[in-house]
Amino acid sequence: VTEGRRGRTEADGDGRADALIVRHAGGSYPVLVEAGVLGRLDEVVREHLGAGAVVVLSDETVADLHGAGLPWPVLRFPPGEASKTREEWARLSDRLLELGLGRDGGVVALGGGVTGDLAGFVAATYLRGIPYLQVPTTLLAMIDASVGGKTGVDTPHGKNLVGAFHPPAAVAIDPRALATLPERDFRSGLAEAVKHGLVADAGYLDWLEASAPAILAREEATLARLIRRSVELKAAVVGADERERGLRAVLNAGHTVGHALEHVSAYALTHGEAVALGLVAETALAERLGVAEPGTHERTRALLAALGLPVTLAQPLPSDALLAAMATDKKNRAADIRFALPAGVGRMDPADGRYTRPAPPAAIRAALDLLHPA
Ligand SMILES: NC(=O)c1ccc[n+]([C@@H]2O[C@H](COP(=O)([O-])OP(=O)(O)OC[C@H]3O[C@@H](n4cnc5c(N)ncnc54)[C@H](O)[C@@H]3O)[C@@H](O)[C@H]2O)c1
Ligand SMILES: [Zn+2]
Repeated sequence: VTEGRRGRTEADGDGRADALIVRHAGGSYPVLVEAGVLGRLDEVVREHLGAGAVVVLSDETVADLHGAGLPWPVLRFPPGEASKTREEWARLSDRLLELGLGRDGGVVALGGGVTGDLAGFVAATYLRGIPYLQVPTTLLAMIDASVGGKTGVDTPHGKNLVGAFHPPAAVAIDPRALATLPERDFRSGLAEAVKHGLVADAGYLDWLEASAPAILAREEATLARLIRRSVELKAAVVGADERERGLRAVLNAGHTVGHALEHVSAYALTHGEAVALGLVAETALAERLGVAEPGTHERTRALLAALGLPVTLAQPLPSDALLAAMATDKKNRAADIRFALPAGVGRMDPADGRYTRPAPPAAIRAALDLLHPA
């Protein structure tokens, strides 16, 4: 599903590693994970967006930190989820029209997941679709949003409800960009890496355990390895289930409880913090139901804690409200709250090919109780 071309390694002369190849229904695109690639974006743009005009879309924070000196116009918008709207999509699209960007042009999405989703959606719809280069600068955007081709904006009815499938022409990831990421955003991104190990690769989980200090110290080579392995694992799962028939649901591990925690905390928890707590509760649930091998929960909990992620709630949240939020999540029918549960570290419960199974409310409550310290 994803492969690195053979013959070159990260140790080769110029320090450039081979691109990972992400395959999707309409083709494939390369993901470069390369320290310093931000310093040679002009080459990457010429290679993957062609010779036409280029415009960079970036939030103000990232534009100031990492967009200085780029040889293209930079359209800026305020940082944060509040910019992921149809209004901002319209404003940016109009600015591209004013600049006269043509069909042979391209967009560079420089920033976190908000920028990737928003700029990707602008590219998906501008003149019925032009190519874009994704340059993710948060850990979450590097290891999650870089695979799957989903773009879009939020609406008052909920997040990500208007959008398009528009895979990038290429993704360029510079692990050095993470040096400026605030600590809370950095740690939040690590929750998805733990999820990747839990659902797909016990060896990766071992490595995360052994590498926790180097990860938290943001050692460049360690971060590059983490990003590469997580991208490979997500691409393998998505590529094996392009039609979203089943397997892809394993990527929802920790997310049934996680989405409810985000919602009920009124987004006081970041997505990654909520997913960490969700993984704590859902691995306990899996053991309680006899689905997961004993010890799965404790290893997951200990690794999340070692990576500086929350494993208990600082502010209690009522289980009734959490259960109600899970029952109204778009992926669940009422009274049938489904979970993607592990069978053990590195393997998921196939649950008759659906990769999710319902759980009785009493078992869910008992798992949620673990999030409230005695
Ligand atoms: N398309 C997908 O598959 C996918 C997957 C996961 C998440 N998402 C979306 O991504 C969004 C969340 O992503 P996010 O957490 O990256 O949010 P974000 O883009 O808002 O970035 C978080 C904050 O970090 C700042 N920032 C970004 N890079 C920085 C850097 N290198 N140094 C300093 N500051 C930096 C930003 O300005 C912002 O304030 C959500 O909207 C979510 O829906 C999409
Ligand atoms: Zn997630």
